[in-house]
Amino acid sequence: MLKYTELVLDHFKNPRNLGRIENPDAEATEGSIACGDMMTVYLKIEDNKIVDIKFESYGCAANIATASMMTEVVKGLTLEEAKKITWKDIVERLGGLPPVKYHCSNLAIDTLRKAISAYEESLVGK
Ligand code: FES
Ligand code: FES
Repeated sequence: MLKYTELVLDHFKNPRNLGRIENPDAEATEGSIACGDMMTVYLKIEDNKIVDIKFESYGCAANIATASMMTEVVKGLTLEEAKKITWKDIVERLGGLPPVKYHCSNLAIDTLRKAISAYEESLVGK
């Protein structure tokens, strides 16, 4: 049995910002090479700030918990600030993860960054 912190279990059982945003300013789906799981991030962006974020996960408990924490951390940040958040920041905020589950937090950050890139690409030429 893997041992999770109370905070990880709380975010897994009561994920924050779970679901989808209709008409998002950007969205991205990413898969983990390590396990084959997938997740999607939806963003609402105003004045270069993340004003709303939601996620859907087809991953494991660690992915749901890290995605949930990631949405709490980046909501209200500018895109530049959000891009600097690392999977380690999120794992630290959760009080740690078993190392075999680090890739699950990578997936949460990779999907966020892909959604931000999709947004930035959508602005090119506008
Ligand atoms: Fe998918 Fe862990 S491999 S839940
Ligand atoms: Fe696949 Fe955690 S095992 S995201």
